[in-house]
Amino acid sequence: MAILEIETFGAEVLRKVAEPIENIDDAILKLVEDMFHTMYEAPGVGLAAPQVGHSLRLVVIDHALEEGKPGEPMALINPVILSRAEEEDQMEEGCLSIPDVSEPVIRSLAVDVAAINTDGKEIKLTAEGFQARVIQHELDHLDGILFVDKIVSLLKRRMVKKRLAKKLKRR
Ligand code: NI
Repeated sequence: MAILEIETFGAEVLRKVAEPIENIDDAILKLVEDMFHTMYEAPGVGLAAPQVGHSLRLVVIDHALEEGKPGEPMALINPVILSRAEEEDQMEEGCLSIPDVSEPVIRSLAVDVAAINTDGKEIKLTAEGFQARVIQHELDHLDGILFVDKIVSLLKRRMVKKRLAKKLKRR
């Protein structure tokens, strides 16, 4: 297993719409393993393939980490949100690709998701609460969307983006 380099804000791959995975071959399985390893090492509760430089529709999640419970690792290939609960809540989010920023984002309280697992089987799940939030955050990555695009306060959103742009210029 390897720890992969995490792309940070400003990397083009983070803004691309990722491609579906056609074949779950050894390279994909290796990528899944390395992504889990990288996520746990960071540590984080979710990681999307574009964050490690692969423009593919694949995310790994372990939302249980946040609550200090035993892990509940999940890899979702070509995931799709089938429906969202109308109820929403607001909570601070961060992202491994945007270190040192954490701001409130509004997300649906529950989502129904369809995906393929690493055995190539179609799975469906209903996620609620924190798991639903993590899934929505990670799936956004597959469409080139970052949580800073969704910061609740428009003023704060502009400030954070200005700060990130400045940081990029200094690089
Ligand atoms: Ni993220």
